[in-house]
Amino acid sequence: MAIIKVQKGTKDILPSEMPVWHFMEEKANQVFSSYGAKEIRTPIFEATELFARGVGDTTDIVNKEMYTFEKSERSLTLRPENTAGVVRSFIENGMHRLSAPVKLWYKGPMFRYERPQAGRQRQFHQVGVEVFGIKQATADAEVILMAVNYLKALGLNDLSVELNSLGCPECRETFKTKLKAVIKPYLNELCPDCQARYEKNPLRLLDCKVEECKAIYAKPEIQAVIQSDFICEDCANHFNELKEYLDALGIKYEINKLLVRGLDYYNRTVFEIKSNNLGSQNAVCGGGRYDSLVRNLGGEDTPAIGFAMGMERLASLIGSKTEEKTKAFVVSGNMIEAVKLAEELRSKGISCEFDLTNKKFVKQLEKASKVAKYALILGEDELSTNQVTVKNLETSEQKTVKRENIELI
Ligand code: HAM
Repeated sequence: MAIIKVQKGTKDILPSEMPVWHFMEEKANQVFSSYGAKEIRTPIFEATELFARGVGDTTDIVNKEMYTFEKSERSLTLRPENTAGVVRSFIENGMHRLSAPVKLWYKGPMFRYERPQAGRQRQFHQVGVEVFGIKQATADAEVILMAVNYLKALGLNDLSVELNSLGCPECRETFKTKLKAVIKPYLNELCPDCQARYEKNPLRLLDCKVEECKAIYAKPEIQAVIQSDFICEDCANHFNELKEYLDALGIKYEINKLLVRGLDYYNRTVFEIKSNNLGSQNAVCGGGRYDSLVRNLGGEDTPAIGFAMGMERLASLIGSKTEEKTKAFVVSGNMIEAVKLAEELRSKGISCEFDLTNKKFVKQLEKASKVAKYALILGEDELSTNQVTVKNLETSEQKTVKRENIELI
């Protein structure tokens, strides 16, 4: 019979890869908790409208990449990202009443119907942080610091932080008008996506990966608009404060005026962190400020900023970690005594296995050497004297001790 294969763009995370995933998850808990962030888990599917209104209906994510289905005449979508879901939960659970800042972190699977390639999957995992209630640039600096310190805790140091300010809706409007005016003469030469973006979301033009479009946007008159300081005084002050904090904290960054991000909810600060080991288009982290999203999704006016990182991309940078061996393996001809001893150890929090098929002693010892650090030998002699022979399988040292005195270091 034909075997059923894993779906394109999805992957099994196999037991041999789990040590890296546990490492990323434990470090996330440690690092984000050290900033006072609390973990939140929201559902994997939400009302489609949440993403249409939250992420934005001019984005590729909403237009092309959502896994949407109907159940009981409701349109539901597998979450393509988690900021919208966390904001929904923030509003629904009245978290604006908590004293600001409310700092939340999450991890879990996300779904985007993208063309699979290196570092891009259809089901992937993100770990992320969202901080609510602070409009000052201190929150922007803290969020970037959390991202950088998490990456450092994973041992990833060869990183570059790119930063930009998209301004507020008012100053951005002026910029969009200027940008559209300077690009208009080339409109017919742009790719179909850019032609659509030109009307709907001109900022996203800057993000196009098509060479012909990039060449047009590199023209001096267009660059002059892109590189101009279009943001208003308030937005410029906010951005300058952020840069001062980052300088004081010793966090290196580069300003990238082409950084516009692929989601509609951002204003002011946007940032991405790239690893110098991944392909150029593969950011490990993306984030930014989204001061209007809580209100746009029906909540109280609440400024917010956050980021998310792709865990598969992190895992590929971290490389492999060796699987932890089971601590002990009981070797015995007496299955009942073997299971009893194994249970005794497990109840003390020590991982322990034994041979479920009652093979010959030598075979059991062979299996023990493969999977465990210690063999606990329960032969006739040991059983009659209530003792156990503890054999260190790495050094072959062994000694016989009272059953209650087993010490495994
Ligand atoms: P994003 O840039 O769409 O932002 O995704 C964040 C990160 O998720 C990316 O930098 C990348 O590492 C990873 N990622 C995205 N798509 C894929 C994919 N198809 N396969 C593998 N990894 C992927 C967001 O999702 C925002 N919610 C971030 C945010 C949080 N902004 C504010 N708060």
